[in-house]
Amino acid sequence: MPRVQQPTWPDESARAGVFDQLRAAPPLVFAGEVDVLRGRLAAAARGEAFLLQGGDCAETFAESTADRIRNKIRTILQMAAVLTYGASVPVIKMGRMAGQFAKPRSADEETRDGLTLPTYRGDAVNGHGFTETDRLPDPERLWRTYTTSAQTLNLLRAFTAGGFADLREVHSWNQGFVSGPGYDRYEQLAREIDKAVRFMNAIGADFDAIQGVEFYSSHEALLLDYEEALSRIDSRTGEVYDCSGHFLWIGERTRQLDGAHVDFLSRVRNPIGVKLGPDASVQDALALIDALDPEREPGRLTFITRMGAGKIRDRLPALVEGVRDAGAQVAWVTDPMHGNTITSSNGYKTRRFEDILDEVVGFFEVHRALGTVPAGLHMELTGDDVTEVLGGAGLIDEAGLERRYETLVDPRLNHQQSLELAFLVAEMLAER
Ligand code: PEP
Ligand code: CO
Repeated sequence: MPRVQQPTWPDESARAGVFDQLRAAPPLVFAGEVDVLRGRLAAAARGEAFLLQGGDCAETFAESTADRIRNKIRTILQMAAVLTYGASVPVIKMGRMAGQFAKPRSADEETRDGLTLPTYRGDAVNGHGFTETDRLPDPERLWRTYTTSAQTLNLLRAFTAGGFADLREVHSWNQGFVSGPGYDRYEQLAREIDKAVRFMNAIGADFDAIQGVEFYSSHEALLLDYEEALSRIDSRTGEVYDCSGHFLWIGERTRQLDGAHVDFLSRVRNPIGVKLGPDASVQDALALIDALDPEREPGRLTFITRMGAGKIRDRLPALVEGVRDAGAQVAWVTDPMHGNTITSSNGYKTRRFEDILDEVVGFFEVHRALGTVPAGLHMELTGDDVTEVLGGAGLIDEAGLERRYETLVDPRLNHQQSLELAFLVAEMLAER
């Protein structure tokens, strides 16, 4: 089957060597965890939980440091606290983390000042620097993707089991940030949570028992060499799991029905996401359901729509209705990032905070009108004070983008913008 968006590895024997090495390596996740997540997503599809999935557009090896990882986890935990407390609904916490190292690209090549080189396809494939050596795909990077994912996941598991994610730490997550609307509002919410925790403690609730939180990993299953090599047969059930991460999604550019990505993911037991852009038809959606979720298993399939703020109210209703009328059970999640990418007049790839928010509002409106369930939020965000997205309470303007624009691919919400968005979503979620 056509394997689109795959790098052209220069040396087949080197590729095969890394493939075998990966195939012999321990899995990154355990099938049992993946099964638990499937159940959680089924609850989200029914409206009994809400998915919060967030992280970088592209993780990089260089930025997979303890500080950066901690800041991202902390941001997601804070957003989850806002959503859980604001809407009284359990939040499934999931990072676009510990594996999000490969990117699909619209063009194979990039030309600068007369020099044409392969495009950057993520650290899993080649380097970002614009030199021939950097841009040459190197299969050793697949191995580094595995080890960096393992390191990230290790820290993630340590933080979430070791007390860092304990709700009683809700204040400490805000430490080190200057004041600002997002932070101040968060401080106030943290005080309320504290009060509720003290009350629960006083009446005998066992907070030590809920010290750890579930935190799942996810990435786009783009590089088939990598995903195939990390697939394992579960010793308990004999079924196949892609053990590179808990949740895997198929991107807008690789969801062809007769393509290798859909075929491969139809054969693994993980919960699967599929991105749907503004041109996805009901027929596309139904055919994807038949291919990926023939049993209509709750929690198996998530549709992540990324329509753009200007199109969601127009395009989403027919899709949701068509899927509902066909009796399929999918979780509908909004990605308000990828349909709202623009170029600023000073040349930055950016997004407007107001467009992002507007797409989320449209998503909730459509589901409310249809009586269906808005089941989650898919975000590109970071825990640091970058300036990549325009607007928000910090009022980042075009000149402000120059201050701290660090992403190698798509612009991310910074810490404050992420919190701000969480408060706005919590209000809509409370009405759900
Ligand atoms: C992404 O999630 O970074 C991405 C490339 O999304 P999409 O497939 O929706 O364009
Ligand atoms: Co992106």
